[in-house]
Amino acid sequence: MSYSPEVRERLETDAKEIIGRYPKPRSALLPLLHLVQSEDGYVSDDGQEFCAEMLGLSKAEVVGVATFYTMYKRRPSGEYNVGVCINSLCAIMGGDQIWAELTEHAGVGHDETTSDGKITLERLECNAACDFAPVMMVNWEFFDNQTPESAKQLVDDLREGRPVVPTRGPGRLCTFKEASRVLAGFPDGQAGDGPSAAGPSLEGLKIAKANGWEAPRPGAQERGSEK
Ligand code: FES
Repeated sequence: MSYSPEVRERLETDAKEIIGRYPKPRSALLPLLHLVQSEDGYVSDDGQEFCAEMLGLSKAEVVGVATFYTMYKRRPSGEYNVGVCINSLCAIMGGDQIWAELTEHAGVGHDETTSDGKITLERLECNAACDFAPVMMVNWEFFDNQTPESAKQLVDDLREGRPVVPTRGPGRLCTFKEASRVLAGFPDGQAGDGPSAAGPSLEGLKIAKANGWEAPRPGAQERGSEK
């Protein structure tokens, strides 16, 4: 199956805009992969061929990149990609327990999608939000300080279409396809919405300021050792 003429025309228009942002066309491969993901819900075979054609690359070059990064999905993703961080700190703080209970509750494992097409579960590595451990992400929006109960409630709410608001970030949660379009470089106007940093992240800064501590300036150590 290849794209219909209407879809193809729309994708081409968007792809040309993306390619125009870079000095060399091949530099646009990552956002173009997000673009086809926003159309198909994953990086489809047609999508890979489309990227190769638009960028003058071989399909092998496109596949090599698409299969390297975990944000590019090789099977259709559910409407909500629900990730549980199982890296060291989150795991110790309860991430492993969340993962065990959530997979049983949803009836799917890593990179698997519920039969209603709503939820794809994913084990995530560190999201650089360890101060809010254990952390989950839905379509790359943060859900901080989770518990097995809150995680199961989150998935139930998403499946039932009840409103869900990320702990930080915008008040409206995008679908996986919508989030992919934003990652392709077409903002939805929500980027600056909601809180970004919060209490635990700012605590260290407050302590440093209270004590007059400063980060070492680049090169200061080398200059000191020359004396
Ligand atoms: S270990 Fe989970 S966010 Fe860092």
